[in-house]
Amino acid sequence: MTEERRQSKKEQKIAILDAGSQFGGLIDRNVRELGLRTELLPLDTPIGKLKKYAAIIISGGPKSVEDADAYLCDPDLFSLDKPILGICYGLQLMAKLLGGSVGPGDIREDGPMDTVFIEDSALFEGFNGTQRVLMTHGDSVQTVPEGYVVSGRSGSLISAIENPARKHYGVQFHPEVFQTVRGVDIFRNFLFNIAGLTPDYTIDDLETEVLEHIKSAVGTRDVVVFVSGGVDSAVLAALIGKAIPKLQIHAFHIDTGFMRQGESEQVISALKAAGIDVVLLDMADMFATATTIIGGQQTLPLNQMIDPQTKRKIIGDTFIAVRDKILRDYNLAEDSVLAQGSLRPDLIESGSVLASSKADTIKTHHNDTEEVRKLRQLNRVVEPLQELYKDQVRALGRRLGLPDSLIERHPFPGPGLAIRVLCAEQPYRLDNHEQLQQQLDDFVQHTSPNFQATLLPVQTVGVQGDGRSYKYLTGLTGPAKWDELYQLAASIPNHNHATNRVCYIFGEPIDRQNLQITPTHLTKPVLEQLRQADAIVGEVLHAYDLFGNFNQLPVISFPVNFGQKDGRAIALRPFKTPDFMTGVPGRVGEDFPEVALQEIINKILTEVPGIARVAIDLTSKPPGTTEWE
Ligand code: XMP
Repeated sequence: MTEERRQSKKEQKIAILDAGSQFGGLIDRNVRELGLRTELLPLDTPIGKLKKYAAIIISGGPKSVEDADAYLCDPDLFSLDKPILGICYGLQLMAKLLGGSVGPGDIREDGPMDTVFIEDSALFEGFNGTQRVLMTHGDSVQTVPEGYVVSGRSGSLISAIENPARKHYGVQFHPEVFQTVRGVDIFRNFLFNIAGLTPDYTIDDLETEVLEHIKSAVGTRDVVVFVSGGVDSAVLAALIGKAIPKLQIHAFHIDTGFMRQGESEQVISALKAAGIDVVLLDMADMFATATTIIGGQQTLPLNQMIDPQTKRKIIGDTFIAVRDKILRDYNLAEDSVLAQGSLRPDLIESGSVLASSKADTIKTHHNDTEEVRKLRQLNRVVEPLQELYKDQVRALGRRLGLPDSLIERHPFPGPGLAIRVLCAEQPYRLDNHEQLQQQLDDFVQHTSPNFQATLLPVQTVGVQGDGRSYKYLTGLTGPAKWDELYQLAASIPNHNHATNRVCYIFGEPIDRQNLQITPTHLTKPVLEQLRQADAIVGEVLHAYDLFGNFNQLPVISFPVNFGQKDGRAIALRPFKTPDFMTGVPGRVGEDFPEVALQEIINKILTEVPGIARVAIDLTSKPPGTTEWE
């Protein structure tokens, strides 16, 4: 690269000021995919440091600008003579600091909404009036600062403002997620038309950077890499194979006891065929009884633990214990490097400082536990994919010549089935349960009287307004009229704040008097039950050639007995997403033929002992996550 070209690339860098958004990395990805370089910086970066950037984008965040502990930027940020795009919290900060006002609206807006844009805005050039955008906010701009105009509205709420003379633009919604239909055009308009930049960053740059990163981080040390068989670790192993000599590489596939039926064997042979040799280690017993220390106290063993985050932490720490055991057994030096295939979303959602200084912890990723953070401090971890998203990793994998069977596999989480068994000892029931159920009944009676919506006695995890939520699962029963069901499912979490996930329960209406939970832990019989149900789903998807219709289809065991002694239920979570930061449910009828679904249900109910009901998840992300824990 010539010095002149390097210089121009540097001048074109975009600063993304991070107010703690779950989607901060997606802004980064959108900009990079448009061919420009970015840097994710803390929101309060002093303006002296921002002068070298060509434009500034301020992300959303979990706080309200009115909170006493609101995240603040440099007070002079908006006096910088730079194009600025404020997103969600970024817009609210712009409005408030420049003399407008921000306050809570009557309702939260979480989900796709229609916004009407003014015709002559350079940011929305080429838009025809109304567009679908993704909202996730409680506060709204109430009055705009002097010199600024409203450039978009959603109902009565202000959803965009601008001051074209100062090149200041703000949007309430998230242009960085795919549910905002023209989101990419907003970035394109901002970067190319408003800021006047030109694209100059390619996938070649990306691969070169990743290989250089591995070489310089590893040096002459040994590398231990765990290859689960998912696309991330397979691409990681291939990149490491390309960057450093074979003698330094030690690759293992760990059978945690939480793999799916026949999975470890399939993975080993697929990797072998792709030229990646891995050693299989059976560690199921070690994982089942593993514990960890939390707040100075030793936890219960994993097979008695119910808290999902603790389960993840135990599993994460056990992977590190396995690493330590490997160093001893294989006589490797203590400063050997652990290679991890952590991606941008993994680190953002676990609140890692590597990705974001302010993001709320959505889930503790097993790649980002305290033990891993300690190893990082000691410079003993290499994570060359940490800036990337799944589809970029797939693109790299294809360039490296990995087969489609590895690249197109649905992702499977490191903790495996352990986070797909909802464990519980007691039913989840808030003190005002009756009142919440009554509210839900009134809402459903009013909007969709053909259906019943029942708050089920378990919680699942979700993500709302950039924060983690852990709330009731709602079960819908009634006629299988899918359009109405999806519409109802989308509206319930916006109106009933005690629930973040809605599924359809096949079969009779639910007898609420007879709704208990079956105490459930990560024991062998429970795992085997889920493994059988999951294998049935896999067989039928394969027979109907449906894997390609979804990006992932978790099969989940949840301990609601629906009146059957010792019964549990199985949920299917067909999910469509380009990046796993947001997404929509795969729809019955369109993506999931009813005949295949019916075959799955019949087989599970007749062939898997102890399953009382089958459910299908109808929830988008937000408000629900992909996984249920
Ligand atoms: P969520 O549920 O957060 O999942 O929407 C997004 C993606 O991450 C995967 N996932 C995990 N992967 N360890 C992993 O390796 C984990 O603890 C974990 N939790 C979720 C999930 O399967 C989906 O692909």
